[in-house]
Amino acid sequence: MLTDTIKEATLNQHQQLEKALVAKMKTIRSMQGYVDLLKVFYGYFGGLEQKINQYINSSHLEDHNQRRKTNAMADDIEALGGKLPITANTNDLPEINNALQAFGALYVIEGSTLGGSIISKMMQQHLPFDGQNGLSFFNGYGEQTHQMWAGFKTALNAVAKTRDDEAVVLQAANDTFAGFKQWMDKQ
Ligand code: HEM
Repeated sequence: MLTDTIKEATLNQHQQLEKALVAKMKTIRSMQGYVDLLKVFYGYFGGLEQKINQYINSSHLEDHNQRRKTNAMADDIEALGGKLPITANTNDLPEINNALQAFGALYVIEGSTLGGSIISKMMQQHLPFDGQNGLSFFNGYGEQTHQMWAGFKTALNAVAKTRDDEAVVLQAANDTFAGFKQWMDKQ
C-alpha cells in the first residue's frame, strides 16, 4: 500500500528533520524564540497550503477544510504578540501542479500532527505558557489525532491508482520534506 511505501521512502528525511528540529528546540528558552519557531512553520506550511488548496477539495478528502493549519498558526503567533511573516513562494516550495503532488505535500503536513504533541510538551517544559494559549497548531487534533491520521491515509491510498501515480506522490513528499529542512536552515 502507498501509505507503507511512503513511510519507508521518507523515513530518512523525517529522521534528519526531527533531529534538526529537536536541536533547535533545545535552544529555545523564551516565548519570542517559540514565536520565531511558529513563524518558520507558518511561512512554509502557509505557502504550501495555498498551493495544495488549488488541487485538493472535499471530493478527495471529505474534511479537507478542517485540516488547514495556516489559521491555527496565525492565531498562535498573534495570540503571543507576534506579526505574521510572508509565506514561502514557488522558489522555496516543491512543485505542486496536480492532486497527486498536492497529496504528497499534504502527507508531510498531516504527518506533522503526529509529532506536534511531542513538540507541544517539550515547549511547555521550558516556557511559561498561559494554559494552552499559543499551542493550538502543535496540539493539532488532540485526542482525534490518530483518527484523523487514519482518515487521511485512506484518502491517500485511494488517490493513487497506478505505480506511476504513487511515484509522483512519493517524489512530492520527499521534496516537501527536503524543502522544509532547507527553509528552516535559511531562517
Ligand atoms: C520534534 C519533531 C518531531 C517528532 C518528535 C516527530 C515524531 C513523530 C512520530 C513519533 C511519528 C510516528 C507516530 C505514529 O506512527 O503514531 C511521526 C510521524 C510522522 N511525522 Fe513526525 N515528528 C516530528 C516532526 C515532524 C515534522 C516537522 C514533520 C513534517 C514537516 C513530520 C512529519 C511526519 C510524518 C509525515 C509522519 C508520518 C509517518 C508515517 O507515514 O507513518 N514530523 N513523527
